[in-house]
Amino acid sequence: MKKIAVYPGSFDPITNGHIDIITRGLRMFDELIILVAYNPNKSSLFTVEERMDLIREVVIKDQKILRVDCSAGLLVDYVQSKGANVILRGLRAVSDFEYEFQMALINRRLNRDIETVFLMTGYQWFYTSSNLIKEAAGLGGSVKGLVPDIVFERLQDKFNHIKN
Ligand code: PNS
Repeated sequence: MKKIAVYPGSFDPITNGHIDIITRGLRMFDELIILVAYNPNKSSLFTVEERMDLIREVVIKDQKILRVDCSAGLLVDYVQSKGANVILRGLRAVSDFEYEFQMALINRRLNRDIETVFLMTGYQWFYTSSNLIKEAAGLGGSVKGLVPDIVFERLQDKFNHIKN
């Protein structure tokens, strides 16, 4: 049976930390679906389409076993609808743990057939988060090297005073 995993997140925008998890996740599963899980009532810097396009630009090339999708619904329902049974998440600093633990437990309660699998984020991305990157870029700080070049350019388009 094919091992299909779903890697959900806001990806607003995708960072090098996410790419690290995707690259390593691809070695573990037969198929990986990157899911932009969005809440229509929550504001974001990039639209869902922009986020999906950026993901496709930076990771989908040559990857036949990778798909990019979006959903505003319940994660476990999406996972089941795709014939998958694994939710893949990256774990960074200790501060992530409580939130991730809660999410894994609620998802397990909602659907016992689905397991959450965590990968420890590579140490160089330990403190990289989309939120911090957006905040730093919005205040003009350079976030080069923390995100793929194309994402950096899109951030420059959004915040035109961002340093190189
Ligand atoms: O990148 P993020 O913002 O940490 O990702 C959080 C995300 C999108 C994975 C989480 O909010 C989620 O699973 N949303 C889907 C809605 C859902 O199923 N919620 C109940 C379980 S938490």
